[in-house]
Amino acid sequence: MKKLFLILLLLPNILLANESKHDDVMSTAALHPKQMKWEFDSIFGRFDRASAQRGYQVYKEVCAACHSLKLVSYRNLQEIGFSEDEVKQIASEYLVTDGPNDEGEMFERAALPSDKFVSPYANEQAARSVNGGAYPPDLSLITKARHDGPNYVYSLLTGFEDAPEGFVMSEGKNYNKYFEGRQIAMPAPITDDGQVDYKDGTYATKEQMAIDVVNFLQWAAEPETEHRKKMGIRTMIFLGILFFILIAAKKAVWKNIK
Ligand code: HEC
Repeated sequence: MKKLFLILLLLPNILLANESKHDDVMSTAALHPKQMKWEFDSIFGRFDRASAQRGYQVYKEVCAACHSLKLVSYRNLQEIGFSEDEVKQIASEYLVTDGPNDEGEMFERAALPSDKFVSPYANEQAARSVNGGAYPPDLSLITKARHDGPNYVYSLLTGFEDAPEGFVMSEGKNYNKYFEGRQIAMPAPITDDGQVDYKDGTYATKEQMAIDVVNFLQWAAEPETEHRKKMGIRTMIFLGILFFILIAAKKAVWKNIK
Protein backbone atom coordinates (compact mmCIF):
# COMPACT_ATOMS: atom_id res chain seq x y z
CA MET A 1 0.00 0.00 0.00
CA LYS A 2 2.78 2.35 1.03
CA LYS A 3 4.66 1.53 -2.15
CA LEU A 4 1.64 2.23 -4.32
CA PHE A 5 1.23 5.57 -2.61
CA LEU A 6 4.89 6.38 -3.22
CA ILE A 7 4.60 5.49 -6.89
CA LEU A 8 1.54 7.68 -7.29
CA LEU A 9 3.37 10.50 -5.57
CA LEU A 10 6.38 10.18 -7.85
CA LEU A 11 4.45 9.56 -11.05
CA PRO A 12 4.29 13.20 -12.15
CA ASN A 13 8.05 13.54 -11.63
CA ILE A 14 8.75 10.42 -13.65
CA LEU A 15 6.51 11.65 -16.48
CA LEU A 16 8.02 15.11 -16.44
CA ALA A 17 11.53 13.70 -16.44
CA ASN A 18 10.65 11.77 -19.55
CA GLU A 19 9.25 14.85 -21.15
CA SER A 20 12.41 16.85 -20.67
CA LYS A 21 14.43 13.93 -22.02
CA HIS A 22 12.40 14.22 -25.19
CA ASP A 23 13.31 17.88 -25.46
CA ASP A 24 15.82 17.26 -28.18
CA VAL A 25 18.03 20.32 -28.69
CA MET A 26 17.26 20.38 -32.40
CA SER A 27 13.49 20.23 -31.81
CA THR A 28 11.40 23.11 -33.09
CA ALA A 29 8.35 22.28 -30.94
CA ALA A 30 7.44 24.81 -28.27
CA LEU A 31 7.92 23.80 -24.63
CA HIS A 32 5.04 23.92 -22.17
CA PRO A 33 5.07 27.28 -20.36
CA LYS A 34 6.59 27.42 -16.88
CA GLN A 35 3.82 27.26 -14.28
CA MET A 36 3.78 30.33 -12.06
CA LYS A 37 1.56 31.32 -9.12
CA TRP A 38 -0.51 34.41 -9.92
CA GLU A 39 -2.65 36.30 -7.46
CA PHE A 40 -5.38 36.79 -10.08
CA ASP A 41 -5.69 32.98 -10.35
CA SER A 42 -6.65 32.55 -6.68
CA ILE A 43 -10.32 32.14 -5.71
CA PHE A 44 -10.62 35.82 -4.82
CA GLY A 45 -8.84 36.71 -8.05
CA ARG A 46 -7.40 40.03 -6.93
CA PHE A 47 -4.88 41.85 -9.07
CA ASP A 48 -1.61 42.69 -7.38
CA ARG A 49 -1.97 46.43 -7.98
CA ALA A 50 1.57 47.41 -7.07
CA SER A 51 2.88 44.81 -9.50
CA ALA A 52 0.43 45.85 -12.24
CA GLN A 53 1.52 49.48 -11.84
CA ARG A 54 5.15 48.48 -12.20
CA GLY A 55 4.10 46.36 -15.17
CA TYR A 56 2.59 49.42 -16.78
CA GLN A 57 5.99 51.09 -16.42
CA VAL A 58 7.65 48.12 -18.14
CA TYR A 59 5.07 48.22 -20.92
CA LYS A 60 5.52 51.95 -21.36
CA GLU A 61 9.31 52.00 -21.27
CA VAL A 62 10.03 48.74 -23.09
CA CYS A 63 7.15 47.06 -24.95
CA ALA A 64 5.37 50.21 -26.18
CA ALA A 65 8.23 50.89 -28.58
CA CYS A 66 6.80 48.08 -30.73
CA HIS A 67 3.44 46.91 -29.33
CA SER A 68 0.13 48.80 -29.26
CA LEU A 69 -2.49 48.40 -26.52
CA LYS A 70 -5.45 49.68 -28.45
CA LEU A 71 -8.31 48.50 -26.25
CA VAL A 72 -7.14 50.25 -23.10
CA SER A 73 -7.86 53.92 -22.32
CA TYR A 74 -5.57 56.00 -20.13
CA ARG A 75 -8.36 56.49 -17.59
CA ASN A 76 -8.63 52.70 -17.14
CA LEU A 77 -5.30 52.95 -15.32
CA GLN A 78 -7.22 54.25 -12.30
CA GLU A 79 -8.50 50.69 -11.82
CA ILE A 80 -5.00 49.54 -10.88
CA GLY A 81 -4.49 52.40 -8.46
CA PHE A 82 -3.21 55.40 -10.43
CA SER A 83 -4.82 58.65 -9.28
CA GLU A 84 -6.86 60.89 -11.56
CA ASP A 85 -4.04 63.43 -11.68
CA GLU A 86 -1.44 60.80 -12.48
CA VAL A 87 -3.61 59.56 -15.35
CA LYS A 88 -4.01 63.09 -16.72
CA GLN A 89 -0.25 63.51 -16.56
CA ILE A 90 0.39 60.16 -18.28
CA ALA A 91 -2.09 60.90 -21.09
CA SER A 92 -0.74 64.40 -21.69
CA GLU A 93 2.65 62.96 -22.68
CA TYR A 94 1.14 61.57 -25.90
CA LEU A 95 -0.12 63.20 -29.05
CA VAL A 96 -3.29 62.08 -30.83
CA THR A 97 -4.70 63.13 -34.17
CA ASP A 98 -8.13 64.68 -33.81
CA GLY A 99 -10.48 66.57 -36.04
CA PRO A 100 -11.55 67.70 -38.47
CA ASN A 101 -11.73 71.25 -37.08
CA ASP A 102 -13.93 74.05 -38.49
CA GLU A 103 -11.59 74.43 -41.45
CA GLY A 104 -11.83 70.73 -42.19
CA GLU A 105 -8.26 70.04 -41.13
CA MET A 106 -7.09 67.19 -38.90
CA PHE A 107 -4.94 68.41 -36.03
CA GLU A 108 -2.79 67.05 -33.24
CA ARG A 109 -3.49 67.56 -29.57
CA ALA A 110 -2.29 66.15 -26.26
CA ALA A 111 -4.09 62.92 -25.34
CA LEU A 112 -6.85 62.99 -22.72
CA PRO A 113 -7.64 60.32 -20.10
CA SER A 114 -10.57 59.21 -22.29
CA ASP A 115 -8.30 58.47 -25.26
CA LYS A 116 -7.13 54.95 -26.04
CA PHE A 117 -3.42 54.16 -25.67
CA VAL A 118 -1.51 55.69 -28.58
CA SER A 119 0.04 53.10 -30.91
CA PRO A 120 3.73 53.16 -31.79
CA TYR A 121 3.09 52.77 -35.53
CA ALA A 122 0.65 54.46 -37.89
CA ASN A 123 -0.43 51.10 -39.37
CA GLU A 124 0.45 47.43 -39.70
CA GLN A 125 2.63 47.95 -42.79
CA ALA A 126 4.76 50.51 -40.96
CA ALA A 127 5.12 48.10 -38.03
CA ARG A 128 6.15 45.23 -40.28
CA SER A 129 8.63 47.24 -42.28
CA VAL A 130 10.74 48.04 -39.20
CA ASN A 131 10.42 44.57 -37.66
CA GLY A 132 11.82 42.51 -40.51
CA GLY A 133 8.37 41.72 -41.88
CA ALA A 134 6.98 40.42 -38.58
CA TYR A 135 4.06 42.11 -36.88
CA PRO A 136 4.26 42.88 -33.17
CA PRO A 137 0.69 41.98 -32.15
CA ASP A 138 -1.51 44.31 -30.12
CA LEU A 139 -1.10 43.28 -26.47
CA SER A 140 -4.60 44.23 -25.19
CA LEU A 141 -5.87 40.64 -25.26
CA ILE A 142 -2.64 38.70 -25.62
CA THR A 143 -2.97 36.76 -22.34
CA LYS A 144 -6.38 35.54 -23.53
CA ALA A 145 -5.33 34.94 -27.11
CA ARG A 146 -2.64 32.40 -26.22
CA HIS A 147 -3.13 29.06 -24.49
CA ASP A 148 -2.15 29.36 -20.80
CA GLY A 149 -1.60 33.07 -21.61
CA PRO A 150 -0.01 34.55 -18.46
CA ASN A 151 2.39 31.63 -18.03
CA TYR A 152 3.14 31.69 -21.76
CA VAL A 153 3.99 35.40 -21.88
CA TYR A 154 6.12 35.05 -18.74
CA SER A 155 7.97 32.05 -20.22
CA LEU A 156 8.45 33.77 -23.56
CA LEU A 157 9.94 36.87 -21.94
CA THR A 158 12.33 34.87 -19.78
CA GLY A 159 13.00 32.20 -22.41
CA PHE A 160 15.50 33.86 -24.76
CA GLU A 161 18.82 32.08 -25.02
CA ASP A 162 21.56 31.28 -27.52
CA ALA A 163 20.52 28.76 -30.14
CA PRO A 164 22.12 25.34 -29.60
CA GLU A 165 25.06 24.62 -31.83
CA GLY A 166 23.92 23.38 -35.23
CA PHE A 167 20.40 24.80 -34.95
CA VAL A 168 19.72 26.61 -38.21
CA MET A 169 18.47 30.13 -37.54
CA SER A 170 16.80 32.40 -40.11
CA GLU A 171 18.16 35.89 -40.41
CA GLY A 172 16.85 38.37 -37.87
CA LYS A 173 15.27 35.67 -35.69
CA ASN A 174 15.96 34.92 -32.07
CA TYR A 175 16.00 31.55 -30.34
CA ASN A 176 13.24 30.96 -27.80
CA LYS A 177 12.06 27.50 -26.73
CA TYR A 178 8.60 28.69 -25.77
CA PHE A 179 7.73 30.03 -29.21
CA GLU A 180 6.35 27.61 -31.80
CA GLY A 181 9.22 26.91 -34.19
CA ARG A 182 11.65 28.27 -31.56
CA GLN A 183 12.53 31.27 -33.74
CA ILE A 184 10.88 34.58 -33.00
CA ALA A 185 11.28 37.92 -34.75
CA MET A 186 11.12 39.78 -31.42
CA PRO A 187 14.56 40.51 -29.95
CA ALA A 188 14.70 39.77 -26.19
CA PRO A 189 12.99 42.86 -24.76
CA ILE A 190 14.02 42.29 -21.14
CA THR A 191 17.78 41.95 -21.10
CA ASP A 192 19.28 43.50 -17.98
CA ASP A 193 18.54 43.75 -14.28
CA GLY A 194 17.80 47.39 -13.50
CA GLN A 195 16.64 48.08 -17.07
CA VAL A 196 13.66 49.98 -15.67
CA ASP A 197 13.96 52.34 -12.74
CA TYR A 198 10.81 51.50 -10.75
CA LYS A 199 9.05 54.49 -9.20
CA ASP A 200 8.17 52.50 -6.06
CA GLY A 201 11.80 51.63 -5.38
CA THR A 202 11.49 47.89 -6.13
CA TYR A 203 14.66 46.61 -7.78
CA ALA A 204 13.83 45.63 -11.37
CA THR A 205 15.38 42.19 -11.84
CA LYS A 206 14.60 40.55 -15.18
CA GLU A 207 12.33 38.10 -13.37
CA GLN A 208 10.52 40.92 -11.56
CA MET A 209 9.91 42.87 -14.78
CA ALA A 210 8.51 39.79 -16.53
CA ILE A 211 6.14 39.06 -13.61
CA ASP A 212 5.04 42.70 -13.38
CA VAL A 213 4.32 43.12 -17.07
CA VAL A 214 2.26 39.90 -17.05
CA ASN A 215 0.21 41.21 -14.12
CA PHE A 216 -0.38 44.39 -16.09
CA LEU A 217 -1.29 42.61 -19.34
CA GLN A 218 -3.62 40.18 -17.56
CA TRP A 219 -5.47 43.10 -16.02
CA ALA A 220 -5.63 44.78 -19.46
CA ALA A 221 -7.13 41.63 -20.99
CA GLU A 222 -9.51 40.73 -18.17
CA PRO A 223 -10.23 43.75 -15.98
CA GLU A 224 -13.54 42.18 -14.92
CA THR A 225 -11.84 39.23 -13.13
CA GLU A 226 -12.26 40.68 -9.63
CA HIS A 227 -15.94 41.45 -10.10
CA ARG A 228 -16.62 38.06 -11.66
CA LYS A 229 -14.92 36.15 -8.83
CA LYS A 230 -16.64 38.26 -6.15
CA MET A 231 -20.03 37.47 -7.69
CA GLY A 232 -19.09 33.78 -7.82
CA ILE A 233 -18.30 33.72 -4.09
CA ARG A 234 -21.50 35.60 -3.22
CA THR A 235 -23.50 33.15 -5.30
CA MET A 236 -21.94 30.19 -3.46
CA ILE A 237 -22.74 31.75 -0.08
CA PHE A 238 -26.30 32.43 -1.20
CA LEU A 239 -26.74 28.85 -2.43
CA GLY A 240 -25.30 27.56 0.85
CA ILE A 241 -27.88 29.47 2.88
CA LEU A 242 -30.69 28.46 0.52
CA PHE A 243 -29.71 24.82 0.99
CA PHE A 244 -30.30 24.96 4.76
CA ILE A 245 -33.55 26.86 4.38
CA LEU A 246 -34.85 24.21 1.99
CA ILE A 247 -33.81 21.39 4.32
CA ALA A 248 -35.63 23.10 7.19
CA ALA A 249 -38.70 23.68 4.99
CA LYS A 250 -38.73 20.06 3.88
CA LYS A 251 -38.54 18.85 7.48
CA ALA A 252 -41.38 21.15 8.49
CA VAL A 253 -43.61 20.03 5.62
CA TRP A 254 -43.05 16.31 6.17
CA LYS A 255 -43.08 16.49 9.99
CA ASN A 256 -46.47 14.78 10.51
CA ILE A 257 -46.17 12.19 7.79
CA LYS A 258 -44.74 8.82 8.67
C1 HEC B 1 11.82 45.81 -30.87
C2 HEC B 1 10.41 45.58 -30.94
C3 HEC B 1 9.74 44.80 -29.83
C4 HEC B 1 9.75 45.07 -28.47
C5 HEC B 1 10.47 46.19 -27.73
C6 HEC B 1 8.88 44.09 -27.85
N1 HEC B 1 8.39 43.25 -28.81
FE1 HEC B 1 7.12 41.70 -28.51
N2 HEC B 1 7.15 41.25 -30.48
C7 HEC B 1 7.85 41.96 -31.45
C8 HEC B 1 7.65 41.31 -32.75
C9 HEC B 1 8.26 41.77 -34.06
C10 HEC B 1 6.80 40.21 -32.52
C11 HEC B 1 6.32 39.17 -33.54
C12 HEC B 1 7.24 37.99 -33.46
C13 HEC B 1 7.02 36.94 -34.52
O1 HEC B 1 5.89 36.80 -35.00
O2 HEC B 1 8.00 36.22 -34.82
C14 HEC B 1 6.51 40.20 -31.10
C15 HEC B 1 5.69 39.27 -30.46
C16 HEC B 1 5.33 39.30 -29.14
C17 HEC B 1 4.37 38.40 -28.51
C18 HEC B 1 3.57 37.34 -29.21
C19 HEC B 1 4.24 36.03 -29.35
C20 HEC B 1 3.30 35.05 -30.01
O3 HEC B 1 2.95 34.04 -29.39
O4 HEC B 1 2.87 35.31 -31.14
C21 HEC B 1 4.29 38.76 -27.20
C22 HEC B 1 3.44 38.11 -26.12
C23 HEC B 1 5.19 39.87 -26.99
N3 HEC B 1 5.80 40.17 -28.19
C24 HEC B 1 5.33 40.52 -25.79
C25 HEC B 1 6.19 41.60 -25.59
C26 HEC B 1 6.35 42.26 -24.31
C27 HEC B 1 5.59 41.92 -23.04
C28 HEC B 1 7.28 43.24 -24.51
C29 HEC B 1 7.84 44.18 -23.48
C30 HEC B 1 8.44 43.59 -22.30
C31 HEC B 1 7.69 43.19 -25.90
N4 HEC B 1 7.00 42.18 -26.52
C32 HEC B 1 8.61 44.04 -26.49
C33 HEC B 1 8.61 43.07 -31.25
C34 HEC B 1 8.89 43.65 -30.02
